[in-house]
Amino acid sequence: MIDDREKEVRVMIAGTGAYLPERVLTNAELERMVDTSDEWIAARTGMRERRIARTDEATSDMAAAAARVALADAGMAADEVELIIVGTSTPDMLFPSTACLVQSAIGAKGALCYDLSAACSGFLYSLETARAMLQSGLYRNALVVGADKMSAVTDWSDRGTCILFGDGAGAFVLKPTGTHRGIMATVSGADGSLGDLLMIPAGGSRMPATHATVAEHQHTVKMAGNNVFKHAVRCMTEAGQGALAKVGLTAADVKWMIPHQANMRIIQAISERVDIPMDRIVVNLDRYGNTTAATVPVALDEAVRDGRIQRGDILLIVVFGGGFTWGAMVLEY
Ligand code: ACO
Repeated sequence: MIDDREKEVRVMIAGTGAYLPERVLTNAELERMVDTSDEWIAARTGMRERRIARTDEATSDMAAAAARVALADAGMAADEVELIIVGTSTPDMLFPSTACLVQSAIGAKGALCYDLSAACSGFLYSLETARAMLQSGLYRNALVVGADKMSAVTDWSDRGTCILFGDGAGAFVLKPTGTHRGIMATVSGADGSLGDLLMIPAGGSRMPATHATVAEHQHTVKMAGNNVFKHAVRCMTEAGQGALAKVGLTAADVKWMIPHQANMRIIQAISERVDIPMDRIVVNLDRYGNTTAATVPVALDEAVRDGRIQRGDILLIVVFGGGFTWGAMVLEY
């Protein structure tokens, strides 16, 4: 049964775009930075290389680049954009918001702008929020961006985390539709009691920047990897199954699953549990690592551009991140 609230106004993806910085950081280079090996990283994570932004390139620069591509794809001018939401955990600065900086960079003068913080789930949370804003009728289109410069918050001396992350941005243009099923259902959630398993402790109001916090690398990602792994598999599996059940679909109806790109073994475990084989799952973590809020829009954009994803395909997105936060979305592309 489709929830009545899911039926009212349909919202579809009208355009997609992505941006990845040029600089490639390989496993071989990481071998020279910390005590690790290409074999260990490839076997435990599936990652081989990731992209690193220039020092003068911030999250909003990557977000604006992805946004321009998505707007061109949707055939929309920047001054038509009514709402910009940027899902990010690495804003250029605490304020102004990254969304405001994107607005200025692309010239979307008429748009309402704000950031949304939900770590790796930030893009899916942003999509869901934008959908609700369009369904309310108050806004007629939205530019939703997932962008993170994780290299700025990575402890390059911690082999347990520095191998995992990369930089990048992806963007969707959302519009209401009368002819298309668009976003069909979401199931999402959060458990703040587990927040300390994946966090950046310093740089906020609880632990403002001091010489000591910087010396102790408290402005970088701290993660209990193994524990995060187990929760990620369970939450993404349950959310994915729940979202499909909500619209009366099964795994067999899903043409492509686009999971958060945190670890190949997490994706394989979800594949088995939800019964969607790996050849129907979009994976690019071997080339980009975990770009946090950018993983899903970058992967989806890539699969649209190379022809794997076609209009009319049923897609299942599953995400998990710090907070903890998670979610799944079923949609017709
Ligand atoms: N190279 C070599 N050895 C390493 C490395 C490395 N890069 N990293 C850890 N090890 C060692 C550990 O020290 C440990 O050694 P020990 O047994 O002597 O103590 C051993 O490898 C096993 O460590 P585990 O942490 O148990 O390894 P695991 O198989 O769990 O893999 C990993 C670690 C890759 C981090 C994994 O736990 C993972 O991917 N976790 C989930 C990450 C995730 O999903 N994040 C979510 C989103 S991120 C966000 O929201 C911002």
